[in-house]
Amino acid sequence: MNDVIAIDGPAGAGKSTIARRVASQLGYTYIDTGAMYRAVALWAIRTGIKPDEATRLEQLAVAAEIGLDAQQRVFLNGEEITEAIRTPEVSALASRVAAVGGVRTALVLKQRAIAASRGVVMEGRDIGTVVFPAARVKIFLDADPGERVQRRATEQPDVPTEQLAAQIAERDARDRGRTESPLLQAPDAVYVDSTGLTLEQVEKKILDIIEVSKGNTPQVE
Ligand code: DC
Repeated sequence: MNDVIAIDGPAGAGKSTIARRVASQLGYTYIDTGAMYRAVALWAIRTGIKPDEATRLEQLAVAAEIGLDAQQRVFLNGEEITEAIRTPEVSALASRVAAVGGVRTALVLKQRAIAASRGVVMEGRDIGTVVFPAARVKIFLDADPGERVQRRATEQPDVPTEQLAAQIAERDARDRGRTESPLLQAPDAVYVDSTGLTLEQVEKKILDIIEVSKGNTPQVE
């Protein structure tokens, strides 16, 4: 594997923005693995597959051709779905789809294949624990729940704050509570609390951590 910077953490901690900025600083490819779970969820909605149909969901995940380009556009089987995967319906289903073991196995294989050929900053829930346990740098990016809700409220001003808070609490509980690859901090991950920090401050903290770990070589798998 090439160099991997793994960034995990709960929804609204700022992972996407930070991972994108760090990747651009390093000249690495930014990979949003949540978009891959969202792509499978969107396909399931379109084909009428229910969240409890594990085998059919797994088949979708295996068959899905998911593309992520340098402009952060997302493609499913050649069709651009960048906007379509950001609806509340897809968010809710993605966290249920992500609890299906067969879906995870299929998407983890795709994630590993992406990193086989280039340096990546990969962001998700299980990158440091499951996808790349030998990643050179692992960050667990967190923020207190109130601030995570506020950040989402800024991104989605039309949705009532109480509704966003309930959605985040529900997704957190599901992501942390599932048996398959739950969201948790890898023992060797560095915990970064972004509460009260600006984007620039968080970016700097993470670039400093990466700089300090420069001598670390990934444990070859
Ligand atoms: O990061 P996000 O909100 O776009 O992720 C969508 C869902 O996918 C979320 O409920 C968590 C899940 N997910 C996961 O289980 N593992 C990952 N590596 C990335 C996302």
